[in-house]
Amino acid sequence: MVSPVFEIKDNTKVQSVLFVCLGNICRSPLAEGVFRHQVSLAGREDEFEVASAGTGGWHVGNPPDPRSVDIARLNDIDISAQRARQLSVEDFHRFDLILGMDRSNVETILRRAPEDAYGKVHLFSRYAHDVEKDVPDPYYGGPDGFRNVYNMLSAGCSAILEKL
Ligand code: 4NP
Repeated sequence: MVSPVFEIKDNTKVQSVLFVCLGNICRSPLAEGVFRHQVSLAGREDEFEVASAGTGGWHVGNPPDPRSVDIARLNDIDISAQRARQLSVEDFHRFDLILGMDRSNVETILRRAPEDAYGKVHLFSRYAHDVEKDVPDPYYGGPDGFRNVYNMLSAGCSAILEKL
């Protein structure tokens, strides 16, 4: 399913995971923070490279949306130093697993992907729980949307970590 880029000393596979949404300020930076936090709690930091990106470039260089920072902080996760960046062609070579937050993100990612990278691209919920479900864009909604996104990401990331 996922091929590792290289192996470290004890043959542990290093796997690189890229979370992708539209703006890289709400969902995917939160996914990056949640997954990194879970990796750290599991004592598996040496095994993973974790990052996020947006398909769009409107927010490049910006910190995550304050509502994502807040819901992360409420759960002891600090994502305030992360900065938005746009998905690039190099990402298709650099990452083993590229997870789109919703079906529209996955379509956009696939349109830009070289053919040999198609197999790395998955819908987050499909990869986590084998369900075709979007992590909904919370940008224009209220705090409930961010809580819902956090809960989906937390459950999904822990299922993904168990698989890897
Ligand atoms: P995200 O949310 O894709 O989860 O980062 C959005 C952020 C900004 C915009 C849309 C979605 N925007 O249109 O600026």
